Amino acid sequence: MKTTAERIGDVTIQGSTADNKQSGPVQTNTVQGGNNLDPWYHHYADRAAGLKASEVRALFAVASRPEVVSLAGGMPYVAALPQDLVINAMERVMREKGATALQYGSGQGVPLLREQILDVMALEGIKANADDVVVTTGSQHALELVSKLFLNPGDVVISEGPSYVTAMVIFKSYQAEVDHVPMDENGLIPAALIEHIAALKAAGRTIKFLYTIPSFHNPAGVTLSWTRRMEILEICRSNNILVLEDNPYGLLYFDKQAPDAIRSLERDGVVYLGTFSKTLAPGFRVGWALAPHAIREKLVLANEAAVLSPSSFTQMVISEYLSTADWKGQINTFRGVYHERKNAMLAALEEYLPDLTWTNPTGGFYVWVTLPEQLDSKAMLPRAVKELVAYTPGTAFYADGDGRQNMRLAFCYPTPESIRVGIRRLATVIRGELDLLDTFAGTGTLGAAPDRPGARNQRYAGPPANIS
Ligand SMILES: Cc1ncc(COP(=O)(O)O)c(C=O)c1O
Repeated sequence: MKTTAERIGDVTIQGSTADNKQSGPVQTNTVQGGNNLDPWYHHYADRAAGLKASEVRALFAVASRPEVVSLAGGMPYVAALPQDLVINAMERVMREKGATALQYGSGQGVPLLREQILDVMALEGIKANADDVVVTTGSQHALELVSKLFLNPGDVVISEGPSYVTAMVIFKSYQAEVDHVPMDENGLIPAALIEHIAALKAAGRTIKFLYTIPSFHNPAGVTLSWTRRMEILEICRSNNILVLEDNPYGLLYFDKQAPDAIRSLERDGVVYLGTFSKTLAPGFRVGWALAPHAIREKLVLANEAAVLSPSSFTQMVISEYLSTADWKGQINTFRGVYHERKNAMLAALEEYLPDLTWTNPTGGFYVWVTLPEQLDSKAMLPRAVKELVAYTPGTAFYADGDGRQNMRLAFCYPTPESIRVGIRRLATVIRGELDLLDTFAGTGTLGAAPDRPGARNQRYAGPPANIS
Protein backbone atom coordinates (compact mmCIF):
# COMPACT_ATOMS: atom_id res chain seq x y z
CA MET A 1 0.00 0.00 0.00
CA LYS A 2 1.20 3.47 -0.77
CA THR A 3 2.05 5.80 2.05
CA THR A 4 0.19 9.07 2.28
CA ALA A 5 3.32 10.83 1.13
CA GLU A 6 3.49 8.58 -1.91
CA ARG A 7 -0.17 9.07 -2.60
CA ILE A 8 0.00 12.82 -2.48
CA GLY A 9 3.43 13.09 -3.96
CA ASP A 10 2.74 12.84 -7.68
CA VAL A 11 3.40 16.52 -8.20
CA THR A 12 5.91 18.32 -6.08
CA ILE A 13 6.64 21.99 -6.29
CA GLN A 14 10.10 22.90 -5.10
CA GLY A 15 9.28 25.46 -2.50
CA SER A 16 11.48 28.51 -2.20
CA THR A 17 9.25 31.23 -0.90
CA ALA A 18 9.64 32.77 2.52
CA ASP A 19 6.58 30.86 3.76
CA ASN A 20 7.81 27.43 2.99
CA LYS A 21 11.54 27.74 3.50
CA GLN A 22 11.53 25.76 6.72
CA SER A 23 9.49 22.89 5.44
CA GLY A 24 11.55 22.31 2.32
CA PRO A 25 9.83 21.07 -0.80
CA VAL A 26 6.13 21.77 -0.70
CA GLN A 27 3.84 18.91 -1.53
CA THR A 28 0.63 19.93 -3.15
CA ASN A 29 -2.50 17.95 -2.50
CA THR A 30 -1.85 16.05 -5.65
CA VAL A 31 -3.62 12.76 -5.93
CA GLN A 32 -2.40 9.77 -7.83
CA GLY A 33 -3.56 9.97 -11.40
CA GLY A 34 -3.94 13.74 -11.31
CA ASN A 35 -1.93 16.01 -13.54
CA ASN A 36 0.23 19.07 -13.20
CA LEU A 37 -2.62 21.44 -13.85
CA ASP A 38 -5.25 19.82 -11.71
CA PRO A 39 -4.22 17.28 -9.11
CA TRP A 40 -7.88 16.38 -8.52
CA TYR A 41 -8.52 15.60 -12.18
CA HIS A 42 -9.59 12.00 -11.59
CA HIS A 43 -11.71 12.77 -8.56
CA TYR A 44 -14.44 14.72 -10.30
CA ALA A 45 -17.83 13.15 -10.80
CA ASP A 46 -18.52 12.06 -14.37
CA ARG A 47 -21.03 14.88 -14.77
CA ALA A 48 -18.27 17.49 -14.35
CA ALA A 49 -16.88 16.43 -17.72
CA GLY A 50 -19.80 18.30 -19.31
CA LEU A 51 -18.67 21.56 -17.71
CA LYS A 52 -16.28 22.86 -20.28
CA ALA A 53 -15.27 26.45 -20.81
CA SER A 54 -16.30 27.63 -24.23
CA GLU A 55 -13.49 27.27 -26.72
CA VAL A 56 -13.82 30.93 -27.56
CA ARG A 57 -13.82 32.18 -23.97
CA ALA A 58 -10.21 33.32 -24.02
CA LEU A 59 -10.88 35.34 -27.13
CA PHE A 60 -13.87 36.96 -25.51
CA ALA A 61 -11.61 38.23 -22.75
CA VAL A 62 -9.67 40.05 -25.47
CA ALA A 63 -12.92 41.06 -27.14
CA SER A 64 -14.03 42.95 -24.06
CA ARG A 65 -11.28 45.53 -24.62
CA PRO A 66 -12.86 48.92 -25.33
CA GLU A 67 -11.42 49.23 -28.84
CA VAL A 68 -13.15 46.00 -29.91
CA VAL A 69 -16.75 46.26 -31.10
CA SER A 70 -18.31 43.22 -29.50
CA LEU A 71 -21.31 41.81 -31.29
CA ALA A 72 -20.75 38.64 -29.29
CA GLY A 73 -22.36 38.95 -25.88
CA GLY A 74 -26.08 39.18 -25.17
CA MET A 75 -25.78 41.84 -22.49
CA PRO A 76 -28.93 43.90 -21.97
CA TYR A 77 -28.45 47.65 -22.35
CA VAL A 78 -29.08 48.45 -18.69
CA ALA A 79 -28.03 52.07 -19.19
CA ALA A 80 -31.53 52.59 -20.62
CA LEU A 81 -32.95 51.91 -17.15
CA PRO A 82 -33.00 55.12 -15.08
CA GLN A 83 -30.93 54.33 -12.00
CA ASP A 84 -33.16 56.47 -9.81
CA LEU A 85 -35.98 53.99 -10.27
CA VAL A 86 -33.82 51.28 -8.76
CA ILE A 87 -32.27 53.49 -6.08
CA ASN A 88 -35.71 54.63 -4.93
CA ALA A 89 -37.02 51.08 -4.79
CA MET A 90 -33.96 49.93 -2.84
CA GLU A 91 -34.22 52.78 -0.41
CA ARG A 92 -37.91 52.19 0.29
CA VAL A 93 -37.31 48.47 0.80
CA MET A 94 -34.53 49.13 3.26
CA ARG A 95 -36.35 51.85 5.17
CA GLU A 96 -39.70 50.10 5.36
CA LYS A 97 -38.91 46.37 5.34
CA GLY A 98 -35.15 46.19 5.85
CA ALA A 99 -35.16 43.43 8.44
CA THR A 100 -37.19 41.12 6.20
CA ALA A 101 -35.19 42.02 3.09
CA LEU A 102 -31.94 41.09 4.82
CA GLN A 103 -33.27 37.83 6.17
CA TYR A 104 -33.57 34.33 4.61
CA GLY A 105 -36.88 33.95 2.86
CA SER A 106 -39.14 31.29 1.45
CA GLY A 107 -37.63 28.65 -0.85
CA GLN A 108 -40.45 29.35 -3.26
CA GLY A 109 -39.95 33.11 -3.39
CA VAL A 110 -41.56 36.24 -1.94
CA PRO A 111 -45.38 35.79 -2.11
CA LEU A 112 -46.11 39.33 -3.33
CA LEU A 113 -43.54 39.05 -6.12
CA ARG A 114 -45.04 35.72 -7.20
CA GLU A 115 -48.42 37.47 -7.52
CA GLN A 116 -46.84 40.27 -9.56
CA ILE A 117 -45.15 37.74 -11.83
CA LEU A 118 -48.65 36.62 -12.78
CA ASP A 119 -49.27 40.14 -14.17
CA VAL A 120 -46.06 39.94 -16.22
CA MET A 121 -46.98 36.53 -17.65
CA ALA A 122 -50.56 37.68 -18.38
CA LEU A 123 -49.05 39.95 -21.05
CA GLU A 124 -48.28 36.76 -22.97
CA GLY A 125 -51.63 35.11 -22.42
CA ILE A 126 -50.75 33.03 -19.38
CA LYS A 127 -53.32 32.49 -16.64
CA ALA A 128 -51.85 30.86 -13.56
CA ASN A 129 -51.84 30.64 -9.81
CA ALA A 130 -49.07 32.27 -7.74
CA ASP A 131 -48.78 28.99 -5.89
CA ASP A 132 -47.31 27.40 -9.03
CA VAL A 133 -44.57 30.01 -9.41
CA VAL A 134 -41.09 29.32 -8.03
CA VAL A 135 -38.66 32.24 -7.95
CA THR A 136 -35.12 31.30 -8.91
CA THR A 137 -31.71 32.93 -9.16
CA GLY A 138 -32.23 33.94 -12.78
CA SER A 139 -33.92 31.63 -15.23
CA GLN A 140 -30.52 29.99 -15.66
CA HIS A 141 -30.98 28.49 -12.23
CA ALA A 142 -34.47 27.31 -13.12
CA LEU A 143 -32.91 25.48 -16.09
CA GLU A 144 -30.45 23.88 -13.72
CA LEU A 145 -33.17 22.80 -11.28
CA VAL A 146 -35.42 21.33 -13.97
CA SER A 147 -32.44 19.43 -15.38
CA LYS A 148 -31.53 18.16 -11.93
CA LEU A 149 -35.06 16.88 -11.43
CA PHE A 150 -35.46 15.19 -14.79
CA LEU A 151 -32.18 14.18 -16.39
CA ASN A 152 -30.43 10.87 -15.93
CA PRO A 153 -27.22 10.05 -17.77
CA GLY A 154 -28.02 9.03 -21.34
CA ASP A 155 -31.42 10.77 -21.46
CA VAL A 156 -32.20 12.93 -24.46
CA VAL A 157 -33.27 16.56 -24.51
CA ILE A 158 -34.72 17.68 -27.81
CA SER A 159 -34.00 21.30 -28.65
CA GLU A 160 -33.97 23.59 -31.61
CA GLY A 161 -30.78 23.57 -33.66
CA PRO A 162 -29.12 25.96 -32.92
CA SER A 163 -29.96 26.47 -29.24
CA TYR A 164 -29.02 28.53 -26.18
CA VAL A 165 -25.47 27.59 -25.36
CA THR A 166 -25.64 27.65 -21.57
CA ALA A 167 -28.77 25.50 -21.46
CA MET A 168 -26.85 22.88 -23.39
CA VAL A 169 -23.96 23.14 -20.95
CA ILE A 170 -26.40 22.28 -18.15
CA PHE A 171 -27.99 19.38 -20.05
CA LYS A 172 -24.57 17.97 -20.81
CA SER A 173 -23.47 18.40 -17.22
CA TYR A 174 -26.30 16.02 -16.29
CA GLN A 175 -24.88 13.69 -18.95
CA ALA A 176 -27.90 14.05 -21.19
CA GLU A 177 -27.62 14.27 -24.95
CA VAL A 178 -29.03 17.13 -26.96
CA ASP A 179 -30.85 16.23 -30.15
CA HIS A 180 -31.25 19.24 -32.45
CA VAL A 181 -34.36 19.68 -34.57
CA PRO A 182 -34.08 22.19 -37.42
CA MET A 183 -35.90 25.51 -37.68
CA ASP A 184 -36.97 27.77 -40.49
CA GLU A 185 -38.23 31.34 -40.43
CA ASN A 186 -41.29 30.21 -38.42
CA GLY A 187 -39.24 28.43 -35.77
CA LEU A 188 -39.03 24.72 -34.98
CA ILE A 189 -40.34 22.57 -37.82
CA PRO A 190 -43.13 20.26 -36.56
CA ALA A 191 -42.61 17.58 -39.23
CA ALA A 192 -38.92 17.39 -38.30
CA LEU A 193 -39.85 17.11 -34.63
CA ILE A 194 -42.10 14.13 -35.41
CA GLU A 195 -39.28 12.47 -37.33
CA HIS A 196 -36.75 13.02 -34.58
CA ILE A 197 -39.07 11.68 -31.88
CA ALA A 198 -39.78 8.57 -33.97
CA ALA A 199 -36.08 7.97 -34.63
CA LEU A 200 -35.14 8.42 -30.98
CA LYS A 201 -37.91 6.09 -29.85
CA ALA A 202 -36.91 3.51 -32.44
CA ALA A 203 -33.38 3.68 -31.07
CA GLY A 204 -34.74 3.02 -27.57
CA ARG A 205 -33.76 6.44 -26.26
CA THR A 206 -35.52 8.17 -23.37
CA ILE A 207 -36.68 11.67 -24.28
CA LYS A 208 -37.11 13.77 -21.15
CA PHE A 209 -38.29 17.08 -22.53
CA LEU A 210 -38.38 19.47 -25.45
CA TYR A 211 -36.38 22.59 -24.62
CA THR A 212 -37.65 25.46 -26.72
CA ILE A 213 -37.22 29.24 -26.97
CA PRO A 214 -40.29 30.10 -29.02
CA SER A 215 -40.05 33.90 -29.10
CA PHE A 216 -37.11 35.86 -30.56
CA HIS A 217 -34.90 32.83 -30.35
CA ASN A 218 -31.39 32.89 -28.95
CA PRO A 219 -29.38 32.61 -31.18
CA ALA A 220 -31.53 32.29 -34.31
CA GLY A 221 -33.71 35.40 -33.86
CA VAL A 222 -36.80 33.63 -35.24
CA THR A 223 -40.22 33.25 -33.62
CA LEU A 224 -42.42 30.16 -33.53
CA SER A 225 -45.73 30.87 -35.24
CA TRP A 226 -48.99 30.44 -33.36
CA THR A 227 -50.08 27.49 -35.50
CA ARG A 228 -46.79 25.76 -34.84
CA ARG A 229 -47.07 26.40 -31.11
CA MET A 230 -50.31 24.45 -31.15
CA GLU A 231 -48.89 21.73 -33.40
CA ILE A 232 -45.75 21.28 -31.36
CA LEU A 233 -47.67 21.12 -28.12
CA GLU A 234 -49.93 18.46 -29.62
CA ILE A 235 -46.94 16.43 -30.83
CA CYS A 236 -45.40 16.56 -27.36
CA ARG A 237 -48.70 15.72 -25.67
CA SER A 238 -49.27 12.69 -27.84
CA ASN A 239 -45.72 11.47 -27.21
CA ASN A 240 -45.82 12.19 -23.50
CA ILE A 241 -42.97 14.69 -23.72
CA LEU A 242 -42.76 17.60 -21.30
CA VAL A 243 -42.23 21.05 -22.86
CA LEU A 244 -39.66 23.33 -21.24
CA GLU A 245 -40.55 26.77 -22.59
CA ASP A 246 -37.79 29.34 -22.02
CA ASN A 247 -39.01 32.85 -22.68
CA PRO A 248 -36.61 35.61 -21.65
CA TYR A 249 -37.22 37.85 -24.67
CA GLY A 250 -40.99 37.55 -25.32
CA LEU A 251 -41.87 41.07 -24.16
CA LEU A 252 -39.06 42.68 -26.17
CA TYR A 253 -40.91 42.74 -29.47
CA PHE A 254 -40.41 45.54 -31.99
CA ASP A 255 -43.60 46.22 -33.93
CA LYS A 256 -45.79 43.24 -33.34
CA GLN A 257 -46.17 41.14 -30.22
CA ALA A 258 -45.07 37.51 -30.39
CA PRO A 259 -47.86 34.92 -30.28
CA ASP A 260 -48.98 33.98 -26.78
CA ALA A 261 -46.76 31.61 -24.84
CA ILE A 262 -47.13 27.86 -25.31
CA ARG A 263 -47.97 27.74 -21.60
CA SER A 264 -51.11 29.78 -22.36
CA LEU A 265 -52.41 26.71 -24.21
CA GLU A 266 -51.63 24.07 -21.64
CA ARG A 267 -51.01 23.89 -17.93
CA ASP A 268 -50.01 20.33 -17.21
CA GLY A 269 -47.44 19.56 -19.88
CA VAL A 270 -45.38 22.74 -19.82
CA VAL A 271 -42.75 24.15 -17.48
CA TYR A 272 -42.44 27.84 -18.34
CA LEU A 273 -39.36 29.92 -17.51
CA GLY A 274 -39.33 33.71 -17.20
CA THR A 275 -36.84 36.29 -16.00
CA PHE A 276 -36.42 39.94 -15.09
CA SER A 277 -32.95 39.93 -16.66
CA LYS A 278 -33.97 41.42 -20.00
CA THR A 279 -37.00 43.51 -19.03
CA LEU A 280 -35.34 45.03 -15.97
CA ALA A 281 -31.71 44.07 -15.25
CA PRO A 282 -29.74 40.82 -15.01
CA GLY A 283 -27.79 42.01 -11.97
CA PHE A 284 -30.77 41.24 -9.74
CA ARG A 285 -30.54 37.58 -10.73
CA VAL A 286 -34.27 37.01 -10.42
CA GLY A 287 -36.14 34.64 -12.69
CA TRP A 288 -38.88 32.09 -12.19
CA ALA A 289 -40.42 28.80 -13.20
CA LEU A 290 -44.15 28.24 -13.58
CA ALA A 291 -44.73 24.53 -13.30
CA PRO A 292 -47.52 21.97 -13.04
CA HIS A 293 -48.30 21.50 -9.36
CA ALA A 294 -46.40 18.26 -8.74
CA ILE A 295 -43.28 19.51 -10.51
CA ARG A 296 -43.54 22.82 -8.65
CA GLU A 297 -43.41 20.90 -5.38
CA LYS A 298 -40.13 19.26 -6.37
CA LEU A 299 -38.71 22.49 -7.76
CA VAL A 300 -39.15 24.18 -4.39
CA LEU A 301 -37.32 21.33 -2.68
CA ALA A 302 -34.52 21.50 -5.25
CA ASN A 303 -34.34 25.28 -4.87
CA GLU A 304 -34.07 24.98 -1.10
CA ALA A 305 -31.39 22.32 -1.42
CA ALA A 306 -29.40 24.56 -3.75
CA VAL A 307 -29.76 28.07 -2.29
CA LEU A 308 -32.07 27.77 0.77
CA SER A 309 -33.99 30.74 -0.56
CA PRO A 310 -33.50 33.09 -3.49
CA SER A 311 -32.33 36.55 -2.45
CA SER A 312 -35.06 38.23 -0.36
CA PHE A 313 -33.46 41.60 -0.98
CA THR A 314 -33.46 41.59 -4.77
CA GLN A 315 -36.93 40.05 -4.92
CA MET A 316 -38.30 42.75 -2.66
CA VAL A 317 -36.61 45.51 -4.66
CA ILE A 318 -38.15 44.16 -7.87
CA SER A 319 -41.51 43.84 -6.15
CA GLU A 320 -41.29 47.46 -5.02
CA TYR A 321 -40.25 48.54 -8.51
CA LEU A 322 -43.22 46.72 -10.04
CA SER A 323 -45.59 48.32 -7.50
CA THR A 324 -44.36 51.88 -7.93
CA ALA A 325 -42.63 52.38 -11.29
CA ASP A 326 -44.04 52.39 -14.80
CA TRP A 327 -42.51 49.00 -15.62
CA LYS A 328 -44.49 48.54 -18.80
CA GLY A 329 -43.29 51.96 -19.98
CA GLN A 330 -39.73 50.91 -19.18
CA ILE A 331 -40.15 47.75 -21.28
CA ASN A 332 -41.33 50.00 -24.12
CA THR A 333 -38.17 52.05 -23.73
CA PHE A 334 -36.05 48.90 -24.01
CA ARG A 335 -38.05 47.79 -27.04
CA GLY A 336 -37.33 51.12 -28.75
CA VAL A 337 -33.59 50.90 -28.02
CA TYR A 338 -33.30 47.35 -29.34
CA HIS A 339 -35.46 48.04 -32.37
CA GLU A 340 -33.21 50.93 -33.40
CA ARG A 341 -30.12 48.76 -32.95
CA LYS A 342 -31.58 45.89 -34.90
CA ASN A 343 -32.35 48.28 -37.76
CA ALA A 344 -28.81 49.61 -37.60
CA MET A 345 -27.41 46.09 -37.80
CA LEU A 346 -29.54 45.01 -40.74
CA ALA A 347 -28.83 48.24 -42.60
CA ALA A 348 -25.08 47.76 -42.09
CA LEU A 349 -25.28 44.11 -43.19
CA GLU A 350 -27.16 45.18 -46.30
CA GLU A 351 -24.56 47.85 -47.03
CA TYR A 352 -21.34 45.99 -46.26
CA LEU A 353 -22.20 42.33 -46.64
CA PRO A 354 -25.11 42.18 -49.08
CA ASP A 355 -24.16 38.73 -50.29
CA LEU A 356 -24.65 36.99 -46.97
CA THR A 357 -28.00 35.91 -45.58
CA TRP A 358 -29.36 36.63 -42.11
CA THR A 359 -32.51 36.42 -40.09
CA ASN A 360 -34.71 39.44 -39.51
CA PRO A 361 -35.77 39.22 -35.86
CA THR A 362 -39.02 40.87 -34.83
CA GLY A 363 -37.80 41.20 -31.25
CA GLY A 364 -35.04 40.15 -28.86
CA PHE A 365 -31.29 40.58 -29.20
CA TYR A 366 -29.90 38.46 -32.03
CA VAL A 367 -29.34 38.10 -35.75
CA TRP A 368 -28.20 34.73 -37.12
CA VAL A 369 -25.95 35.07 -40.13
CA THR A 370 -25.16 32.43 -42.73
CA LEU A 371 -21.73 32.72 -44.34
CA PRO A 372 -20.58 31.46 -47.70
CA GLU A 373 -20.14 27.73 -47.52
CA GLN A 374 -16.35 27.77 -47.64
CA LEU A 375 -15.95 29.97 -44.56
CA ASP A 376 -15.58 28.73 -41.00
CA SER A 377 -16.82 31.22 -38.42
CA LYS A 378 -14.87 29.61 -35.60
CA ALA A 379 -11.56 29.59 -37.45
CA MET A 380 -12.16 33.18 -38.56
CA LEU A 381 -12.81 34.59 -35.07
CA PRO A 382 -9.17 35.31 -34.06
CA ARG A 383 -8.76 37.30 -37.28
CA ALA A 384 -11.96 39.20 -36.53
CA VAL A 385 -10.77 40.06 -33.05
CA LYS A 386 -7.52 41.26 -34.60
CA GLU A 387 -9.64 43.57 -36.78
CA LEU A 388 -11.35 44.71 -33.54
CA VAL A 389 -14.73 43.07 -33.99
CA ALA A 390 -16.12 40.04 -32.15
CA TYR A 391 -19.08 37.72 -32.77
CA THR A 392 -20.11 34.31 -31.50
CA PRO A 393 -19.36 31.48 -33.91
CA GLY A 394 -22.31 29.25 -34.78
CA THR A 395 -20.57 26.17 -33.36
CA ALA A 396 -21.21 27.47 -29.84
CA PHE A 397 -24.92 26.83 -30.34
CA TYR A 398 -24.83 23.22 -31.45
CA ALA A 399 -24.06 20.26 -29.24
CA ASP A 400 -22.70 18.35 -32.22
CA GLY A 401 -20.12 20.71 -33.73
CA ASP A 402 -22.42 21.99 -36.46
CA GLY A 403 -22.71 25.74 -37.15
CA ARG A 404 -19.36 26.57 -38.74
CA GLN A 405 -21.11 28.40 -41.51
CA ASN A 406 -23.04 30.60 -39.08
CA MET A 407 -22.42 33.35 -36.57
CA ARG A 408 -24.61 35.06 -33.99
CA LEU A 409 -24.51 38.83 -33.95
CA ALA A 410 -25.96 40.55 -30.89
CA PHE A 411 -27.25 44.06 -31.42
CA CYS A 412 -28.42 44.67 -27.83
CA TYR A 413 -25.40 46.36 -26.30
CA PRO A 414 -23.37 48.48 -28.77
CA THR A 415 -24.71 51.79 -30.02
CA PRO A 416 -26.02 51.98 -33.61
CA GLU A 417 -22.79 53.75 -34.63
CA SER A 418 -20.61 51.03 -33.10
CA ILE A 419 -22.74 48.36 -34.75
CA ARG A 420 -22.05 49.99 -38.11
CA VAL A 421 -18.33 50.13 -37.43
CA GLY A 422 -18.39 46.51 -36.26
CA ILE A 423 -20.13 45.24 -39.37
CA ARG A 424 -17.77 47.22 -41.59
CA ARG A 425 -14.83 45.56 -39.85
CA LEU A 426 -16.50 42.19 -40.17
CA ALA A 427 -16.89 42.75 -43.90
CA THR A 428 -13.16 43.43 -44.15
CA VAL A 429 -12.44 40.17 -42.34
CA ILE A 430 -14.82 38.13 -44.48
CA ARG A 431 -13.49 39.61 -47.67
CA GLY A 432 -9.94 38.95 -46.52
CA GLU A 433 -10.80 35.31 -45.85
CA LEU A 434 -12.40 34.88 -49.23
CA ASP A 435 -9.49 36.58 -50.99
CA LEU A 436 -7.17 34.17 -49.24
CA LEU A 437 -9.26 31.21 -50.31
CA ASP A 438 -9.32 32.60 -53.84
CA THR A 439 -5.56 32.90 -53.88
CA PHE A 440 -4.86 29.43 -52.57
CA ALA A 441 -7.77 27.36 -53.77
CA GLY A 442 -9.73 29.52 -56.17
CA THR A 443 -12.87 29.11 -54.08
CA GLY A 444 -13.53 32.55 -52.62
CA THR A 445 -16.26 33.96 -54.75
CA LEU A 446 -17.80 36.77 -52.72
CA GLY A 447 -18.18 39.94 -54.74
CA ALA A 448 -15.90 42.85 -54.19
CA ALA A 449 -16.69 45.31 -51.41
CA PRO A 450 -19.53 47.63 -52.36
CA ASP A 451 -17.06 50.50 -52.45
CA ARG A 452 -14.85 48.69 -54.93
CA PRO A 453 -15.59 49.00 -58.64
CA GLY A 454 -17.71 46.20 -59.99
CA ALA A 455 -18.87 45.14 -56.56
CA ARG A 456 -22.55 44.71 -57.26
CA ASN A 457 -22.25 42.77 -60.46
CA GLN A 458 -19.98 40.10 -58.95
CA ARG A 459 -22.33 39.06 -56.18
CA TYR A 460 -21.76 35.76 -54.50
CA ALA A 461 -24.59 33.36 -55.19
CA GLY A 462 -24.55 32.26 -51.56
CA PRO A 463 -26.02 29.15 -50.04
CA PRO A 464 -29.62 29.36 -48.95
CA ALA A 465 -29.77 30.49 -45.33
CA ASN A 466 -30.64 27.57 -43.12
CA ILE A 467 -32.73 30.06 -41.20
CA SER A 468 -33.67 33.27 -42.87
C1 LIG B 1 -32.53 31.68 -23.85
C2 LIG B 1 -32.01 32.08 -22.52
N1 LIG B 1 -32.42 31.43 -21.44
C3 LIG B 1 -31.97 31.76 -20.22
C4 LIG B 1 -31.08 32.79 -20.04
C5 LIG B 1 -30.60 33.10 -18.64
O1 LIG B 1 -31.10 34.29 -18.19
P1 LIG B 1 -31.10 34.73 -16.67
O2 LIG B 1 -30.47 33.64 -15.86
O3 LIG B 1 -30.34 35.99 -16.61
O4 LIG B 1 -32.54 34.88 -16.29
C6 LIG B 1 -30.63 33.51 -21.15
C7 LIG B 1 -29.64 34.59 -21.00
O5 LIG B 1 -29.15 35.16 -21.91
C8 LIG B 1 -31.11 33.15 -22.43
O6 LIG B 1 -30.73 33.81 -23.54
